[in-house]
Amino acid sequence: MKVVTTLDDLRHARAALLGPVGLVPTMGYLHEGHLSLARRARAECASVAASIFVNPTQFGPSEDLASYPRDLPADLALLETAGVDLIWTPTPQIVYPADFQTWITVDEVTRPLEGSQRPGHFRGVSTVVAKLFNAFQPDRAYFGQKDAQQVAVIRQMARDLNFPVDVVVCPTVREHDGLAMSSRNAYLNTEQRAAAPVLFHALSGAATAYATGERDAETLRELMAGIIDAEPLARRQYVSCADPVTLQELDGPIQRALLSMAVTIGKTRLIDNLVLGDA
Ligand code: PAJ
Repeated sequence: MKVVTTLDDLRHARAALLGPVGLVPTMGYLHEGHLSLARRARAECASVAASIFVNPTQFGPSEDLASYPRDLPADLALLETAGVDLIWTPTPQIVYPADFQTWITVDEVTRPLEGSQRPGHFRGVSTVVAKLFNAFQPDRAYFGQKDAQQVAVIRQMARDLNFPVDVVVCPTVREHDGLAMSSRNAYLNTEQRAAAPVLFHALSGAATAYATGERDAETLRELMAGIIDAEPLARRQYVSCADPVTLQELDGPIQRALLSMAVTIGKTRLIDNLVLGDA
């Protein structure tokens, strides 16, 4: 496994890789969710590359950039076990030199849900992912369903800007009690951790209602909101029942839908989602 920091070293190392090359972009502090992407890439590609970069431009001024958890030695060991060939660990100055002034803005699909709560977040995500696609020239890039809107934004960007990259989406990996794995789960104290599966309970409750015939979008949103509001430690930012492609809220009877939510527990912001009607 080769670990490089400069863009020159990355380009040389990339040129030596056999194709197809699969890329797994991450912000580090890796868990089974990240590793599931690396293993899928390992199974599907001749070479696997990954990036570890806590991207400052996707954090808002009052968000957790400074405290975002980091453990590079542990991350490198985990990626080595997953069979990754090449890792880029750039510094912020390498990705964003002092005179940096070019941004990627994806319009409509970034407006609802996370975009409505985190202004500028997706501009940072699409810009850094475009830079990663240019730097690595991957054939495929692996992302998690955990961040459903991020996938929609990156798909849109790749299509609009003609990136010759297949965007592959991998299922959300969960803890035994249903909590979606996330680097931010490390912020939760014992009591908060015990409350955190409420997101999955709310999504599962709506999925059960759907499975037994409930089709009304607003009823499903109310059902999820009720379950979140019954947990004293949880504060609901949004619950959504939206079109899985456009992410626009649905009304009335639904066929397919993306159920999603953002909930804070203490100072920790958690998101989760489930697709209905996929089978
Ligand atoms: P990060 O939060 O580190 O996540 C890296 C990748 O792992 C993302 O594609 C994310 O969806 C996926 N992932 C996280 N938790 C997961 C889980 N429980 N199950 C499955 N996949 C999971 O997402 C980012 O970093 C950044 O926005 C990035 C794309 C790297 C751009 O900076």
